[in-house]
Amino acid sequence: MSKKFYISDENKEELLKEINSRLKLPGPLMPILHEAQRIFGCIPVEVQKLVSKNTDISVAEINGVVTFYSSFTLHPKGEHIIGICLGTPCYVRGSQTILDAVKADLGIDVGENTEDGFFSLEAIRCIGTCGMAPVMSIDEEVYGEIDVTKAKRLIKEARKK
Ligand code: FES
Repeated sequence: MSKKFYISDENKEELLKEINSRLKLPGPLMPILHEAQRIFGCIPVEVQKLVSKNTDISVAEINGVVTFYSSFTLHPKGEHIIGICLGTPCYVRGSQTILDAVKADLGIDVGENTEDGFFSLEAIRCIGTCGMAPVMSIDEEVYGEIDVTKAKRLIKEARKK
């Protein structure tokens, strides 16, 4: 489930300022979208329309860029992001089973947020710690050699922090 998204007047004003300061520079779309991501935490269609209206770049083009680059997200994220690595070394050591168990535990699918907005769940690609596969992350913390029990315990502990 996704948190409800809304555009405050303050955020809208900030984005318009950023657009105006970048619009005359070459290749303005990427820097504008980075600012939009910073201001709103994501670039859903409501923000894409706002950018489009103030840049004369089509929503289709903006959406194409937002969905292509992984540094942009379409939906607001939860306060804490759980990542389960599905890179090959993690996958062959059972990370898909762990991901399925975490999905069931949280009651959400990959790319969704828990109802209270506390967690987002992501299937991630290799984060360079294959030596301790399978790997899971919670925000910046990386945990290795996880199994279903350990993953559930780490999530439970993260809730208590
Ligand atoms: S494949 Fe999972 S950390 Fe490299």
